Amino acid sequence: MKNVKKNILFGEYVSGVGLKEALSMKPEDVIAEVKNSGLRGRGGAGFPTGLKWEFAFKEDSDEKYVICNADEGEPGTFKDRKLLSEQPEKVFEGLTIAGYAIGAKQGFVYLRGEYVYLLNHLEQTLKNLREKNLLGKNILSSGFDFDIEIRLGAGAYVCGEEFALIESMNGFRGEPRNKPPFPTQKGFRDKPTVVNNVETLCFVPYIVSKGAEWFKRFGTDASTGTKLFSVSGDVEYPGVYEFEMGVSLKELLDVVGAKNPKAVQVGGASGICVSKKDFDKPLCFQGLPPGGSIIVFGEDRDMLNVLKNFLEFFVEESCGQCTPCREGNYRLLEGVNMLEKGECSVRYVRELLTLCEVMKSSAKCGLGQTSPNCFLSILENFKDEVLFR
Ligand SMILES: Cc1cc2nc3c(=O)[nH]c(=O)nc-3n(C[C@H](O)[C@H](O)[C@H](O)COP(=O)(O)O)c2cc1C
Ligand code: SF4
Repeated sequence: MKNVKKNILFGEYVSGVGLKEALSMKPEDVIAEVKNSGLRGRGGAGFPTGLKWEFAFKEDSDEKYVICNADEGEPGTFKDRKLLSEQPEKVFEGLTIAGYAIGAKQGFVYLRGEYVYLLNHLEQTLKNLREKNLLGKNILSSGFDFDIEIRLGAGAYVCGEEFALIESMNGFRGEPRNKPPFPTQKGFRDKPTVVNNVETLCFVPYIVSKGAEWFKRFGTDASTGTKLFSVSGDVEYPGVYEFEMGVSLKELLDVVGAKNPKAVQVGGASGICVSKKDFDKPLCFQGLPPGGSIIVFGEDRDMLNVLKNFLEFFVEESCGQCTPCREGNYRLLEGVNMLEKGECSVRYVRELLTLCEVMKSSAKCGLGQTSPNCFLSILENFKDEVLFR
């Protein structure tokens, strides 16, 4: 059994140590350290953080930006809220180091609209950091100028998608757009922009001050470090937990007090729903998706109802730009309603499964590409319960 007690983000932290170290290094060396650490984005897609920074660093531009994605709209996810509430200095320090590494002078936090109650607290933290010269002009007498502004979202889940987020910050309707160009080429104000998740940025001060080799001691060879999980549902101790990457779902369920769970939704609504046969699998980029949200369902939960709930969410949150997602999610929900009434033939279910594959391969953004996951996994893992009611 892995030692699940080890942690990074809930461990010791001294504000400014990582930043001071970063400012004593060349930006290229900061990027190399982050690349070498194997850190991958904690916002869902798992893109290598150092590589993303390198792309932006190499762009020739008079202005560059870094944005902290604090939109956190995935159902069952509340880990970033905990970091923003309890450790905002760490989030801002990671963002400042990212700005230094790519050559940005301005950073933003895109804060979920519903987290408006955190705004004063975050603004006060920024003020304190400016007073300590950890933000603003000539940071720690290094010659580096950098400041951070907070922008509020307006409650749309899709605005967590990096391009929709940038469009909304640019003053347009928050809708995803085609890639390429990627944000590191043409992002906020059409300038090279790095978008990183709150949790991703929180690892950065540690990696810079303690080194990539230290970070790699946590997790697995291909999924380094630790991961925060927001745990909810039928468990005795819901909350935010830090585990090493590679922890098995079973180990996690034991710690959070899940009693005889029937199903677990791993990675939020856009993740997958697994049954007991998969509980021994590891949570990491090569195993069960380590998206951050773990929703546990006990024996008495109706899995068709669970599926209906997720699909209602996607129908509501689809931006409607592309047909596979706008129409596809609606059709999947319609199919679930038919199943509920006993009016759906096995042949039509097969057609819906084909529709899922079409959506995954043709939807414009991650929302429509991943929304069929709940349908596919619940039908696969709970077939008897869902189809033969
Ligand atoms: C519909 C949708 C919603 C998303 N919501 C979030 C979010 O709330 N927070 C987040 O960090 N990433 C979110 N993402 C992923 C972002 O597009 C992007 O990959 C991420 O912010 C990059 O940061 P990272 O490399 O540190 O993971 C979302 C993606 C999609 C498709
Ligand atoms: S996949 Fe859905 S959310 Fe994404 S662009 Fe298409 S309609 Fe909008």
